[in-house]
Amino acid sequence: MIASCAVCHGGSGEGNEARSAPRLAGLDADYIERQLDLFATGKRGTARDDTFGPQMYVIAQSLQPADRKAASGHYASTEVPSSPLTLDQTLAGQRGKQAYETCATCHGENGMGNPDIGAPRIAGQADWYLLASLEAYHSGARGYDDEDVPGQQMRMALDGVDRSEFKAIAAYVASLGRDD
Ligand code: HEC
Ligand code: HEC
Repeated sequence: MIASCAVCHGGSGEGNEARSAPRLAGLDADYIERQLDLFATGKRGTARDDTFGPQMYVIAQSLQPADRKAASGHYASTEVPSSPLTLDQTLAGQRGKQAYETCATCHGENGMGNPDIGAPRIAGQADWYLLASLEAYHSGARGYDDEDVPGQQMRMALDGVDRSEFKAIAAYVASLGRDD
């Protein structure tokens, strides 16, 4: 089963920009499993203006609950180097750092997340995916289902954030906790 994920997410779950597939390695197991459950039940990946989610919606539906749990445990216990930086890092400086203050309440100063409230680790994630995710929550392509409480929280968290800051924020988050 993991071999089938590798086609898009990479052999070690490091992610693959060419496939728009994010890094999975090092994410919290409960977070991964919950996302797979959301995809499988159409609470993520079925919005009309969602470009990449529908692929995962189809895949997650083909997985049994036990497979989703196994995949989650597998990727949570895999470590890979931080994703390559693709956004202009000069944005990360003052602007991104300052705008990130509002995110730190839930995702932590270091971006390592807080499993108690379902806020995932975002440090080390690919910047292009971070940016795409912010746009998705903003447009309602993600976090649209009333039963997806963490997704709704994340959408609301962007209420007071200017969309023109998304790129700087993504560049800053991607620069957190790097091992290079
Ligand atoms: C055809 C390519 C493809 C395959 C195969 C694939 N994925 Fe994905 N996956 C994606 C894409 C694209 C996204 C990003 C969706 C989005 O932007 O919302 C994604 C997102 C995810 C996410 C959400 C990550 C996050 O940070 O929220 C999880 C979890 C995931 N995939 C797990 C898996 C697992 C487990 C498998 C194997 C059973 C798998 N994927 C196979 C393309 C794929
Ligand atoms: C009130 C708490 C809270 C705040 C504040 C918050 N988030 Fe989140 N964030 C969450 C939760 C909970 C999730 C998981 C949502 C889901 O499952 O869809 C999440 C998910 C995300 C994701 C998706 C990660 C992935 O792997 O797909 C990104 C990216 C993200 N947040 C970035 C941010 C940024 C940047 C900010 C600040 C502008 C921010 N968050 C502010 C709680 C919060």
